Amino acid sequence: MAFTKSLLTILTAAGLALAQSSTQFCDSSSGICFQGYTDPDFDVTVGFVLPPISTPPSDEFIVQLVAPVSNGYTGISVGGTMADSLLFTLWPYNNELILGPRWTSGYVLPTAYAGPQITLLPSSSINSTHIKATFRCQNCTIWEGGSLGSGDLTSFQVVAYVVATTTKPSDPADVDSVIQEHDDFNFFGLDLSMAHSDSYSSYIGGSVTTSAPASTTTHPTSTSHSSTVISTTSSAPSATQTEWGQCGGTGFTGPTVCASGLTCVAVSPPYYYQCQV
Ligand SMILES: *[C@@H]1O[C@H](CO)[C@@H](O)[C@H](O)[C@H]1NC(C)=O
Ligand SMILES: *[C@@H]1O[C@H](CO)[C@@H](O)[C@H](O)[C@H]1NC(C)=O
Repeated sequence: MAFTKSLLTILTAAGLALAQSSTQFCDSSSGICFQGYTDPDFDVTVGFVLPPISTPPSDEFIVQLVAPVSNGYTGISVGGTMADSLLFTLWPYNNELILGPRWTSGYVLPTAYAGPQITLLPSSSINSTHIKATFRCQNCTIWEGGSLGSGDLTSFQVVAYVVATTTKPSDPADVDSVIQEHDDFNFFGLDLSMAHSDSYSSYIGGSVTTSAPASTTTHPTSTSHSSTVISTTSSAPSATQTEWGQCGGTGFTGPTVCASGLTCVAVSPPYYYQCQV
């Protein structure tokens, strides 16, 4: 495919030097903070967050991919090239997100790839303008022909993204549908050293390790960040927050008390606190 050659050629010639670099951003609906990049021309955002560095290294990460809902499909290459890389394609179908891993050895269109275990997280959504997939990817740091950061999870990884704006998958109900060549692509340098988060386990709904006391149904006020976190008000909030809803954070003015059975978790202090079971 012409695309394959051009992407490979450009990456070879330009390498890391020309890649845009990742920065941190936080998704307001989930509170998850990613290391990633927003392409202003494609209106595509790609972010990654990894568990804390460990021995042996974890094989998983969370990805967020946001794109115009009008795209026929949007894709990412975790390894930065089309060939020998872990790829994902995403498109909407009947208000559902159709997301799946793919792989190709080279000059043919990528097909479904078995191995990665994908779990969509609650902040995934489709609205009138955008499709947003937030997903946990397990068994994803090593794939046939490559690995994230070439095995060094503190290095840089070139991540590519592609958009199909003029074609749609031939069978959009099928995650493994045949797709046509995309219309455009670009890439950025993902700084893996900045992509690890101590909040990772809370991001995937697991056990949370914060120093917050047992009485965490209200916002923890004893942290050093409390002055910027809470919108101070002497009257009690009129409503409680629901599961996955925000219950605190810089500039937040909504309810800081979670509904019964939920705990206000410091997901990304001081920016974001969220009600969780
Ligand atoms: C992990 O993924 C690889 C492909 O990248 C696959 O061969 C392997 O069977 C998978 N392992 C598990 C435990 O699913
Ligand atoms: C649609 O979703 C995108 C991505 O999550 C968000 O930025 C945008 O504000 C949403 N638009 C509306 C109208 O809700």
